[in-house]
Amino acid sequence: MTTAPARTAVLTTSDVAVHFGGIKAVDGVDLGIAPGEILGILGPNGSGKSTLLAAVTRLVPLTRGRLSLDGTDYTGSPAYRLARRGIARTFQTVRLLPDLTVLENVQLGADLHLPRASRLRELLRRGAVPEVAEAVERTGIGDALDRRPGELSYGTARRVEIARALAAGPRVLLLDEPTAGMNQPERREVAGLLRRLRDEGLAQLLVEHDVQMMVDTCDRLLAMNQGVRIAEGAPTDVVEDAGVQSAYLGRPSGPQQGGFAPVEPQQSHLAATREREAGRAADR
Ligand SMILES: Nc1ncnc2c1ncn2[C@@H]1O[C@H](COP(=O)(O)OP(=O)(O)OP(=O)(O)O)[C@@H](O)[C@H]1O
Ligand SMILES: [Mg+2]
Repeated sequence: MTTAPARTAVLTTSDVAVHFGGIKAVDGVDLGIAPGEILGILGPNGSGKSTLLAAVTRLVPLTRGRLSLDGTDYTGSPAYRLARRGIARTFQTVRLLPDLTVLENVQLGADLHLPRASRLRELLRRGAVPEVAEAVERTGIGDALDRRPGELSYGTARRVEIARALAAGPRVLLLDEPTAGMNQPERREVAGLLRRLRDEGLAQLLVEHDVQMMVDTCDRLLAMNQGVRIAEGAPTDVVEDAGVQSAYLGRPSGPQQGGFAPVEPQQSHLAATREREAGRAADR
């Protein structure tokens, strides 16, 4: 199994660990993402995927390890600085500002690049900056611009989150279950968008439970279980890996099992995600 992308990585993690008391949510993960590459993270519920994204975006303190962007260590940088340097993300739980319109929410992403003093003036002056218009167009949310997040369907709210991340003009985009709760056509649309962004050179880290979508969309997969990497490499190799089959797909490993079969996102997982949407604000 390969452990590094063929091209020079824009973002790397080295021995990254995040422990919550005795819980080793992430325990020594190395990864690298190259420009124009989608690295997928696969793993069962609680395996540490979201915590890894939170570590990369400096939203949780690292227990150990290093992070670097373009070869420069950023382990000690605050989260807001990373956004300005080109790392954007979406969250597993939709996080839109409820009192702002869809357009205003997307504009918040682009505002990262405006000097602080002129931010408000700029917001008032312009309708939308080109990056915002492009993000809106690419995510297909043009009909929803004047609505508030509370009026949106789940799938549309998720697309607004992606638009907000794109409006920042990132070089690295981290997506935590961007299609959870979407139907198949919506999911295919988002996967197509991610592939187009990849072809334009964007480096992406994608967390999803839809195994078939991950195989179809990602250039490489990294499988996690209990905070550690259990496999990494070409998507079909990873999903056929005996350890991954047993950890993620809940199948006993062994040649008589007949290998990987495409699965829909786990219903139990989807239910758990919706439950989180309803009640819990604790995820990062
Ligand atoms: N703030 C926290 N405090 C304590 N434990 C946490 C915290 N955040 C996450 N954990 C624990 O860390 C482990 C990894 O959680 P994480 O949310 O990263 O998993 P995940 O792979 O994203 O799961 P899912 O597929 O359900 O989203 C779990 O055991 C979780 O309960
Ligand atoms: Mg998660």
